[in-house]
Amino acid sequence: MKFPLFLVFSAFIAATTANTSPPYTFQQIKPSKTLKWHPCNPGFLCAKLSVPLSYQNHSLGLASVPLLKYPATTNSSSGPYQGMLLLNPGGPGASGVEEAFTSGPLIQSIIGSNWDVGKDVNPVTGLKGRGVARVTDEFYEEFIEFGREVGKECEERSGGVRDAGPHMSTATVARDLISIIDAFALTPDGKRSAKPSNLLNYYGISDGTFLGQAFASMFPSQVGNVILDGVVDPAGYLTNFTSASVSHLDELLAAFFVYCHEAGSSKCAYNTGSTPKDIFNRFNASFMQLDPRKAESEGWSNATELQDALLTLKVSLLSPAHSPFEYFPIIPQVLLDLESALQNQTLSSWALATGAIFGSPGPANYKSPDWRLGTLCSDQNNKWYNKTLEDLRHQLKALKEQSIIGEVWSMAVLGCLGWGVKAEEIFEGPFGGVTETPILFVGNTYDGATPIEKLVFVCCLLWSETNIYLECDIVSEEL
Ligand SMILES: *[C@@H]1O[C@H](CO)[C@@H](O)[C@H](O)[C@H]1NC(C)=O
Ligand SMILES: *[C@@H]1O[C@H](CO)[C@@H](O)[C@H](O)[C@H]1NC(C)=O
Ligand SMILES: *[C@@H]1O[C@H](CO)[C@@H](O)[C@H](O)[C@H]1NC(C)=O
Ligand SMILES: *[C@@H]1O[C@H](CO)[C@@H](O)[C@H](O)[C@H]1NC(C)=O
Ligand SMILES: *[C@@H]1O[C@H](CO)[C@@H](O)[C@H](O)[C@H]1NC(C)=O
Ligand SMILES: *[C@@H]1O[C@H](CO)[C@@H](O)[C@H](O)[C@H]1NC(C)=O
Ligand SMILES: *[C@@H]1O[C@H](CO)[C@@H](O)[C@H](O)[C@H]1NC(C)=O
Repeated sequence: MKFPLFLVFSAFIAATTANTSPPYTFQQIKPSKTLKWHPCNPGFLCAKLSVPLSYQNHSLGLASVPLLKYPATTNSSSGPYQGMLLLNPGGPGASGVEEAFTSGPLIQSIIGSNWDVGKDVNPVTGLKGRGVARVTDEFYEEFIEFGREVGKECEERSGGVRDAGPHMSTATVARDLISIIDAFALTPDGKRSAKPSNLLNYYGISDGTFLGQAFASMFPSQVGNVILDGVVDPAGYLTNFTSASVSHLDELLAAFFVYCHEAGSSKCAYNTGSTPKDIFNRFNASFMQLDPRKAESEGWSNATELQDALLTLKVSLLSPAHSPFEYFPIIPQVLLDLESALQNQTLSSWALATGAIFGSPGPANYKSPDWRLGTLCSDQNNKWYNKTLEDLRHQLKALKEQSIIGEVWSMAVLGCLGWGVKAEEIFEGPFGGVTETPILFVGNTYDGATPIEKLVFVCCLLWSETNIYLECDIVSEEL
């Protein structure tokens, strides 16, 4: 099995298939060269498509791509049946199947709707990535060691030419997209869809925009309705993955203080003083006490406890920065608890309780490292393999300068120090040009991982100026 792609929608499904068969799991579905849909999770259909393991050498056999579909409604009020939209959530290496499962219904409900544009968030002035508490090297070393273990195990278990390891690059996935489109075109749904079924309809987020751009560069005449949201600069992705990724992270954190202030004490228990900056200062007072580097140099016995607490706080703050609607409401309590923990010397229990909400900050919580590293490190032509922490210092420095929590964003690239499996095919460009259909590029003013500055460059200079881009604001009135 290659790593799961994703797939949503949107096919007319014969009621008999959906109602009379038992639910299937992916393990129970046999890979097939034609798209055969089986009922799986309620409301969804699953298939496993056989594709060549290697598009360079078909004699190496087959792999299979698991697909999850959220079907179009029959006689949809939105108009005639359009066809299939494929999803990729980025990561890289995040599960598209999971994405389709969690977001498929939502995405289906908004396709065709207009985009909301919210209001502007003025950053809290002074919140910058300098002069703040930093984690010790132990954090980096732990991820490097973890990456080496994953890399070694993957090399032993799936590094051979007939294994998955060499076939996880984005170039191979782009060719899988063609296989999926081809298979779909042969189905009754493919034949009746309003959009030409030989074209890719695709919604790619974050690193999924790299896949979208690789596809569009490799197969420009097969680009259908493509939305790339949270756009990465392909050259930057290939050379220094993390370099300009978190330049707006602090503004997202600042948004929390702005909205906590606006919400008032009744809705935000952490509200204090009379300006957002007052709330920030309250936060800063706790934050600055978590200084493991100082504790280490002073030989304090609480150095490890402080490192754990600082890491927990930083990693936890990534979640509200990336999903403010979901996480802003729980941050006030987390910060109040941190204050009590500092007072009562109970930081370890605070870190445990907070880790239980946001995930523990260590490698144990690293989801699907094999998929992620297999894609990212091979796309980068294994350039970080066998390098050391010292070789990464300038990148880590850049991350620290961009955000007060920037360094915890280094996890992915740290893992690449241990990924030695080489991909059979990588696509390193050239990127851009004119596609069959213009691409819609979308970005948020404050995006914690893919800065808005890339949007205009990528959209309309790298790609054709006939493309369209939209800038949206993440934070709406409702917060
Ligand atoms: C394809 O793979 C087979 C089996 O490993 C190998 O014998 C053959 O030389 C390969 N062909 C090409 C063109 O690389
Ligand atoms: C869909 O529309 C057709 C034609 O109007 C009708 O015959 C059919 O019953 C409708 N199907 C559903 C599920 O509403
Ligand atoms: C946070 O607090 C420290 C002192 O503990 C201070 O030096 C620093 O300037 C504060 N940060 C901001 C952005 O105000
Ligand atoms: C990262 O790569 C981009 C594109 O190749 C380059 O313009 C930029 O200078 C690099 N930044 C760093 C910090 O290496
Ligand atoms: C850590 O230990 C030092 C030295 O005992 C102490 O001064 C400091 O307040 C402690 N910090 C926290 C956050 O408990
Ligand atoms: C910690 O101290 C605060 C007062 O500073 C107190 O209200 C709270 O109950 C204490 N929490 C625990 C868990 O002991
Ligand atoms: C990586 O390092 C190991 C151990 O130092 C060495 O055996 C191996 O040849 C190196 N691989 C590459 C590709 O440099």
